[in-house]
Amino acid sequence: MNLHEPRLPGNLASRKRMFQRRLLAWYTRNRRNLPWRRDRDPYRVWLSEIMLQQTRVAAVVDHYQRFLQRFPAIERLARARESSVLAAWSGLGYYRRARMLHAAAKEIVRQHEGKFPENVAGLRELPGIGRYTAAAIASISFGVPVALVDGNVERVLERFEGKCLPGEAVWETAEELLSRSRPGDFNQAMMELGATVCLPRQPLCTVCPVRELCATRGELTQPAGEVRQKREIHYALDRQDGTVLLVQRPKDASLMPGMWELPEIAAPQPTPAQSDGRLTLRHSITVTDFVVTVEQRPAPEATGGRRVQSRRIHTLPLTGLARKILRAAKII
Ligand code: ADE
Repeated sequence: MNLHEPRLPGNLASRKRMFQRRLLAWYTRNRRNLPWRRDRDPYRVWLSEIMLQQTRVAAVVDHYQRFLQRFPAIERLARARESSVLAAWSGLGYYRRARMLHAAAKEIVRQHEGKFPENVAGLRELPGIGRYTAAAIASISFGVPVALVDGNVERVLERFEGKCLPGEAVWETAEELLSRSRPGDFNQAMMELGATVCLPRQPLCTVCPVRELCATRGELTQPAGEVRQKREIHYALDRQDGTVLLVQRPKDASLMPGMWELPEIAAPQPTPAQSDGRLTLRHSITVTDFVVTVEQRPAPEATGGRRVQSRRIHTLPLTGLARKILRAAKII
């Protein structure tokens, strides 16, 4: 990394075009030869994206090929017994993903004549398909110009811009930079850059195709003088008969008064056997970085709150973190 290398001049539009051109040229030459990149078939793309959630590429490749041999087309998956689907998923963990995959396959075959919806809104109505997965399928399989953000993309963008991009800001930045002519390749190139060059620790800036456009060139550090706090926080995800238990913040709270969130609980016991029902995510508010764990389990007796039908949750004012958790759990 050469800190004295000048950042390329030019206005925003030309910087953006240059970023797209360089990233896409790099991706064309350097992309890994992965089995789901053979074509743009939505069944294959969808399966890979679901498997790649919470699982590394290296661990997915063999499972992906075996799963496709067992269920080569969506009709075969839709017809299968749940036990066969879970057996083919075996070793990947997070079995809820497999159940949702199966449910979505049935829905696509029964309600859409075996054809995937070709737009984000239609895809998001399917079980297990959230914002990220809908954008991945729409852009990669159908060329829809929609950006996506996963952990890798978030890191690339924050370094590129030289600042933290909390919440919606990172999605907006991704959308601004997106190549509208090759959205699927662009999205995959961003993820690829994060996975192979713009690494969490010791990024390989010398081989980065967009180095000269990057604000950081190295690890993003906090501005001097800012002391960030780290905290852990735990919530219960208490689901029952299509409802979720939510609690309302006091109307006179100084932060987010009257908004709805999940019930907070004390730190749960580390029980590996339960990890299928536990979700971990990160959330930053002003100067505090939270590690948030969410346990799928009944809330303590005295919690109070209200059981809200999953499909009505979007009508309540939710805190940003509650929205993030409910999205990660594919409830909204
Ligand atoms: N991670 C998840 N999906 C990916 C993709 N299509 N390309 C690169 N990395 C990914």
